[in-house]
Parts: sequence; C-alpha cells; structure tokens
Amino acid sequence: EGQSMWGGRFSVKPAELMQAINVSIGFDKRLAAQDLAGSKAHAAMLEAVGVISPADAAAIQGGLAAIEREMADGVFPFREEFEDIHMNVEARLRELIGPAAGRLHTARSRNDQVALDFRMWVREACERSAGQLQALQRALLAQAEAHADTLMPGFTHLQPAQPVTFGHHLMAYVEMFGRDASRFADARDRMNECPLGAAALAGSPFPIDRHRTASALGFDRPTANSMDSVAARDFALEALSAAAICATHLSRLAEEIVIWTTPQFGFVRLSDAFSTGSSIMPQKRNPDAAELVRAKVGRILGALTALSVVMKGLPMTYSKDMQEDKVPTFEAFDALELGLTAMTGMAADLTPNRERMAAAAGSGFSTATDLADWLVRRLNMPFRDAHHVTGAAVKRAEALGVDLSQLPLAELQALEPRVTADIFEVLTPAASAASRMSYGGTAPEQVRAQIKRWKDLLS
Ligand code: ARG
Repeated sequence: EGQSMWGGRFSVKPAELMQAINVSIGFDKRLAAQDLAGSKAHAAMLEAVGVISPADAAAIQGGLAAIEREMADGVFPFREEFEDIHMNVEARLRELIGPAAGRLHTARSRNDQVALDFRMWVREACERSAGQLQALQRALLAQAEAHADTLMPGFTHLQPAQPVTFGHHLMAYVEMFGRDASRFADARDRMNECPLGAAALAGSPFPIDRHRTASALGFDRPTANSMDSVAARDFALEALSAAAICATHLSRLAEEIVIWTTPQFGFVRLSDAFSTGSSIMPQKRNPDAAELVRAKVGRILGALTALSVVMKGLPMTYSKDMQEDKVPTFEAFDALELGLTAMTGMAADLTPNRERMAAAAGSGFSTATDLADWLVRRLNMPFRDAHHVTGAAVKRAEALGVDLSQLPLAELQALEPRVTADIFEVLTPAASAASRMSYGGTAPEQVRAQIKRWKDLLS
C-alpha cells in the first residue's frame, strides 16, 4: 500500500508545503455527490462493456452506496492526506471493499473525473439560479399586479422625467430577471455534454461506452474531443458571466430600494423583518439587506475575473491551475443564491406609500412632455416648436411657484394664444401615464398585459 494513489514512482513523501498547496479536499468535498454519481455510472458502464466483472462491479456499487450513506450521516472521513474528493472516495472504497476498488479507475483519470464533477455542479447551480430567479419574478409580479395603477415618478438621470406606475417599474426588473434566467438556461444547455471517458486527455484504449455514461448522468451527449473535455472550463466562465450580469441587476434594484426607503423619498417601507436599527441612533431603519445585495456583485464579478485570469494562457490540456476554478465558482453561486433569496424576501415585503409616490409623480414638471404633445396633436405644431413653448411654460410655472397643472390658462395663452382649457386634462400624472398606451408603455392597461404575459410564461 503506497502513501498515495500515485506512489509507485515516488520514494519520498511530498513535503508538507507541497501538500499544503496541493490539497483541495477542504473545498472540493462539495463535489462529493457528483463524484459518487459519476463513479456509479462509470462502474456500471465498465461492467456492461465487460471491462470489469459483475462481481467486482457489485462490490464497487455496494461500496459507493455505503460511502453515500456515510456522507449522508456525516461520518465519512474526509482526509487531507488523500488530497482531493476523488482520492478520498477511492481510498475509502478500498477500505470498505478491498482490492476490487482498484478497478474503478480503469479507463478514467482524475482529469475527466473532475471535469465531470465540476460540470455537473455548475449545471445544477445554473438550474437552481434559474429557479430562484423565477421565484423572484413571481414576487415582483405580485407587487406589480397590486400596483399596476400606483403612480410614481419615472426618472432619467435620477431627475423626474415622466410619470409611470410602480407596477411598470417593477416589470422592468421582471424582464431583466427573465433574461438572466434564460442566460442560465442557455449556459446549462451548452454545457450539457459529458466529459467522462476522455480519461487523462487522449481517450481510452478500453471499449468504453461514452454515450451510455453520458445519458446515465443526464447529459445530452458525450463531449466530442477528449482534449477539450479535460481542458475546458468555459462552461463555468459562462455560468459566472450569467451570474455577474444577474448580480448587476440585483444591485440596481437593491440600490433603488435603498433610495426609496430614505425618509427623503419615502416611496416604500420595508418591514422590521428586513430593516435594522442603529446601536447609537434610535431613529434609524437601515436597509442592510438591500445594501448587502447591492454589494454581492463584487464577489461574483470578482469570481468571473479570477477564473478568467486562471484560464487565460493555459496550454492544452489539464494543468493544476484549474483546481483554482472551484472556490470562486462556489463562492459566487453562494453569494448569488443569498442575493436572489434576500431580494425575493424584500420584493414581497415592501409596502409602497401610494400618496407620496403619486405626489412625487406630479412634481418636477413631469407632465411637460404631455403639454408639448398636446400642442403637436391639437395645434399641429412641429414638436421642436412645442418643446420651446413648453419650456417657456415650465419657466413661468417655476417663477410663480406652481405646477404646470396649476398654471392659469391666461399664462399659457400668453405663450400660445390657441391653447384651450382642455389642455389641463393631459397635465395630471394619472392622465399622463394612462395615455402611454403604446405596446410596452406605462398605461395601466399595458402594464396588466405585461403581467399577464409573464404569469402565463411562469405557470
Ligand atoms: N483536485 C484536482 C482538481 O481539482 C483533480 C484533478 C487532478 N488531476 C491531476 N492531473 N492532478 O483539478
């Protein structure tokens, strides 16, 4: 019995420092379930093609099942001297079933083994993220439905622009999160090819059936090139890219919640469940959860950067550098999962202040565009001229300290004599929003159509 799985050629144990830098069991134990599934499928295939005997195959399957139980019971001995998850499982298998364990690694290498395990982990992470995104979309949809008519200011440059509804604003995020989910789905489909059977890099001289293992493990097909199979990590880069884009969307919504919950805005309130107090300032209600969601993008984008830098310039095929793929990927998806679930909690929790939002929707001359549009439609004015007249009206209203809707008709007629009193009908925020009936516009009717479309898509 050698010191390690590869001890045959070595006479001296690795230096302690060598082990310290090499060991990965501390983090790749998270691949245990995938490793066992891969080994079961591999052993079954080896038996089916006659590479190992039914007796050895049965012993191996029994041992793998026992290991699975040990892991479920939390008693599996994860040992640093066996370096990584693959050798920990194999070493334990040998303890449990004896020499037959040594046949499991026929026609396999840790290179295709880790490529398989990690790909399966990332595949599952993509599926989980897509599912969590749908939960978030559902929470946003429920709020949007309740507030399809609730007015609020729409901003550009964070300056009041045109009135919109809160439902419309939330549906913008439902669209973003929908694209995020579809990015995860695309990445998942593209990565769904099985690298097992590539062995070290060149393939195997044994009559292995890669199609069989691929389908047993839920893949669409085996990977087509053995070198690519063990060298590729773009599936993880792609998943991390999707995660990073999703995290930027989360951080934008989180930022809006931070702004909306300030007393100055006062647009929404988070319940005590999602607010924290201050140890010194008794009046405080801090939106810590939103702030932390806003910050998670740092880790996630950091992970994408880290793995990109690890992979760039690596020659074909496997290099140990690639062991550094796991920690950032695990961390990124842990962070994303927390961000998505916390945001889902906040989305369901928040209560908008309709009065404040409606009042804000009408301030800042937010219906100036409606005034200009009235001049175009009713007086057939060129839009540029209408824009000019309206600018003068805003200037006058500002000087008088009133809103556009409170400007006396005579003041408007002084700027454009053909203006009639019915112009005031378009100057309220509700009329402004209701008028925007174009497909995808903020008119409550259009917002409800968006909501219905998404409800159907998500059901
Ligand atoms: N622990 C290794 C990793 O995560 C497994 C593959 C090791 N392969 C090798 N040729 N040393 O990448």
